[in-house]
Amino acid sequence: MGSNIESMAQKYRPTTGIAEVDNALGGVIAGDNLVWEIDSGVAGDHFISQFVAACELGGVPVVYVSFNRSPQTIAAKYARLMSPGRFSLIDCFSSGKGNSDEVFLKFFDDPARNTVHAPVHIADPADPSRLEQALIEVGTRGGRSANYVFDSLTGMLDLWGDENRVVRLFGHLCPRLYDLSTLAYWLVETEAHTEAFLAKVRHITQVVIEVSLANGQRALTVHKAAGRSAAIGAPQPLDLEEGSSVQDGESRSAKDLDRMTRRGEELRRKYQVDSIVGGSAAIRRLLGLAATAARSRSSVLITGDTGTGKELIANVVHYNSDRASGPLVKVNCGALPEALLETELFGHVKGAFTGAVRDYEGRFRAADGGTLFLDEVSEMSPRLQVKLLRVLQERQFEPVGSTRTMTVDVRIVAATGRDLRSEIRAGRFRHDLFYRLNVIPIHIPPLSERHEDIPLLVDHFLEKYNRESNRQVTRVPREVLDKLLAYSWPGNVRELENCMERAVVMSPDNEVSLELLPEEIRECRPDSAVSPNPVSAAGPESELRQAVIRLLLSNNDPSGMRDIILDTVEETLLRHLLDSGRYSQRELARLLSLSRVTLRKKLDRYKIS
Ligand SMILES: Nc1ncnc2c1ncn2[C@@H]1O[C@H](COP(=O)(O)OP(=O)(O)OP(=O)(O)O)[C@@H](O)[C@H]1O
Ligand SMILES: [Mg+2]
Repeated sequence: MGSNIESMAQKYRPTTGIAEVDNALGGVIAGDNLVWEIDSGVAGDHFISQFVAACELGGVPVVYVSFNRSPQTIAAKYARLMSPGRFSLIDCFSSGKGNSDEVFLKFFDDPARNTVHAPVHIADPADPSRLEQALIEVGTRGGRSANYVFDSLTGMLDLWGDENRVVRLFGHLCPRLYDLSTLAYWLVETEAHTEAFLAKVRHITQVVIEVSLANGQRALTVHKAAGRSAAIGAPQPLDLEEGSSVQDGESRSAKDLDRMTRRGEELRRKYQVDSIVGGSAAIRRLLGLAATAARSRSSVLITGDTGTGKELIANVVHYNSDRASGPLVKVNCGALPEALLETELFGHVKGAFTGAVRDYEGRFRAADGGTLFLDEVSEMSPRLQVKLLRVLQERQFEPVGSTRTMTVDVRIVAATGRDLRSEIRAGRFRHDLFYRLNVIPIHIPPLSERHEDIPLLVDHFLEKYNRESNRQVTRVPREVLDKLLAYSWPGNVRELENCMERAVVMSPDNEVSLELLPEEIRECRPDSAVSPNPVSAAGPESELRQAVIRLLLSNNDPSGMRDIILDTVEETLLRHLLDSGRYSQRELARLLSLSRVTLRKKLDRYKIS
């Protein structure tokens, strides 16, 4: 066995997997602890992927310690680069930054984790000794030493809240990993740390590499490479093959994508299913549909007029799906000419056309493991529709100018304001593509067909803009609400939102007065309303909810309103049931789970005899 290990070790030469980085360091030495100081805006992904891929080639297992990203993301991004049994994960994220959310924990009984060898979930990551224990267990598992990725020192600081603790663990592990002759990656986001902390880390380790962004190009600076003659301190441009440098300001940069993943947590909270406001039957159906769509992996087609909330629903579907920690990439198919849209979606290789100075990965690959939102999908040219159909059927495509077939794992959510069935009849949209996209159809009716949502939306947007501008504009007089209910809202929810934002900004006091409404709404006569009885389509609960909100909106003192509302509801309930003559007082008490004494007190209070 010993000789086996030796022969393996002979074959495997330590490397970062990126020749330029190896050269800049003057070689990688077994035992190196490499500290990667990553400036904000630089994606560290590529360095990790190349390293993991190099370990796979050398037959060396990888132990990945994650504080910052979900097990699903780590599996999708890195574990799949390795053979079964080679990639181990120690997950300090799910019960750390992930707040023990079941979306993440599900990973541990999900077949998707099969790429990860016996993952370890640390339920109490706030205690550094748990990580040490797990490292000992996992490190000895394969019978030979692994290479390590610690992602990241910054994540440890977020969780432990104490730089000294982080330094202590780092100082404890570095020499041990050195003795084991493994390579270890330690990622650090420089901005998050004090100079003193960074200095200590630099002092302890063997190698310090800074990756920064200068003029849209990534640059590499070697700050320390103990025991070799590297050029220290001189930034060198790093022209990586993956084509992730920032071009022409469009959102094609790796920087944007990285920022998007990091904001994922925040967004997941923002786009909970109940961020869709409304009490109408239509909205309640929509909530159910959105939740179903989120749970499934099928394509979703969202239809609705401008401003009805198509993009909002797309966000909700993504951030409540098991891809929530993966990327959500958006493309507006109506905004780009055909050729540009094609390279945006599918990417291109260097030299594919004049001006293609480097490879570009395209948004399909950027969305790998996540969701691609195709807005205004009806605007796609017939040729691109064919290409899209193939991705939906086979998950495969070729970048522009390349014959190499790419495979992606992307969930499609498409949206359109047009009626695709009549587009099909007119020969502008492929029916086979329509059926592939329309697996889960979600239609959002215009606001004019669900007037009963208006009071709830008014309340929602007033709260939003009051919060944003630190104001207290909460009162909506009855005649104003009547105007809002009577108006036909051709711009749908967006128009209502703009109207409320304007009112909050312009109101001199705490009231949305009539003069603050745009002229077309002010001039609107209630009897010209599209729906003569705005509440008719609503269920009874939504009518009640609407009545409550109306009361609250038209009154200055919501706290005082609470008693009035609750008492009114209770009084009405009791009076109605007694008047029906179907119940004696004793039966009524049992029905409402009240003691007879309590019931009698209530009846006295409301003067019901
Ligand atoms: N039911 C809702 N609850 C809360 N906010 C909503 C709702 N519907 C729409 N909005 C808000 O209205 C605005 C417009 O919505 P969104 O951009 O999703 O519409 P859209 O259908 O994509 O419009 P367009 O077709 O013009 O692109 C957004 O700020 C969105 O958050
Ligand atoms: Mg939109």
